[in-house]
Amino acid sequence: MAKMGGIEFAPLNIPMERRLQTLGSIYYIFIVFVLPAATIVIPFYVFFYTSYWYLVILNGIWMYYDWHSPKRGAYPSRWWRTMRIHTHFANYFPIKLHRTVELDPNQNYLFGYHPHGIISIGAYVNFCTNGTGAFEKFPGINIALCTLVGQFWTPLRREWGLLHGLIDVSRESLLYSLSDKRKGQGVVVVVGGAEEALDAHPGHHILTLNRRKGFIRMALKTGAQLVPIYSFGENELFLQADNPKGSLIRSIQGYAKQVMGFSPPVFHGRGIFNYNFGLLPFRREVNTVVGAPIAVTKTVNPTPEIVDKLHAQYTEALMKLFEDNKTKYGVSKDSKLVIQ
Ligand SMILES: *[C@@H]1O[C@H](CO)[C@@H](O)[C@H](O)[C@H]1NC(C)=O
Ligand SMILES: *[C@@H]1O[C@H](CO)[C@@H](O)[C@H](O)[C@H]1NC(C)=O
Repeated sequence: MAKMGGIEFAPLNIPMERRLQTLGSIYYIFIVFVLPAATIVIPFYVFFYTSYWYLVILNGIWMYYDWHSPKRGAYPSRWWRTMRIHTHFANYFPIKLHRTVELDPNQNYLFGYHPHGIISIGAYVNFCTNGTGAFEKFPGINIALCTLVGQFWTPLRREWGLLHGLIDVSRESLLYSLSDKRKGQGVVVVVGGAEEALDAHPGHHILTLNRRKGFIRMALKTGAQLVPIYSFGENELFLQADNPKGSLIRSIQGYAKQVMGFSPPVFHGRGIFNYNFGLLPFRREVNTVVGAPIAVTKTVNPTPEIVDKLHAQYTEALMKLFEDNKTKYGVSKDSKLVIQ
């Protein structure tokens, strides 16, 4: 590896396999960061300055017609989710999916994914694609990942997500997917959300969970089995500016949250040709462990006591999942899971 002025450059003679993995990573980062920005700006240009203005109108009609798909189970495509590029992207880190028990396809499941990390790459790779073999590990279960509704506001990016089975994380959307008369439906909720992303530092295991109870209530309302997931390594993929509670950055982030509804983390990864700076994630192993389901009895109007009891049971199962698996996946035996 060549080093110049503190920057480590990638060697030029890398094998084809690794090049494809990097390509998978570039593809994903392009879709996540570049495409939405481009598709906000480009339509204005096309509409005002080109003779293809009618494409913008046609897209508007399509979006109007298709507006409710994110709340109606999306339109996951097997072909789209099994493309080779996803396997290359998974192998870039690599990301590995581990199943504790088989899941019965005659039940529905609400999976809680922890931690959020900067952009939940493990959740996307494992559950929006077959990059780590989810289709074979959970046969008969149609798994959909939930995301914020804003992800469906920009053209192309929304269809990209809907084909991956991405759905909106609203109540209406979850009720639709989990009340399905067909069995074998699974939804993955990244419970800690944007708040937890602010604690996504390498070596840290800090979850925002104590006051997150909506997903528990949803499991009770629909009778979906609750399944905890811990993704070892998700917090290792980027470096985030130091922002302990009370710091200036954290205060600005708190303010941003009040104004915009979310608080952007200040982070970086590596570049295409260097290892120190850029938006590509670091090549670090991610091990996503899916726990055993917790039986839930359908309760249409659960009391706060019932919700709290199940929340405590879920939290305990998640802590056990972390404790029982941590040393195998690179976490020291003294590291503790912090739940706040
Ligand atoms: C899903 O991935 C697994 C593991 O890579 C692979 O064996 C399987 O053929 C894939 N399934 C489909 C339908 O492509
Ligand atoms: C991971 O944790 C689960 C839940 O505690 C446990 O059942 C499983 O055996 C653990 N996996 C391994 C390989 O230790």
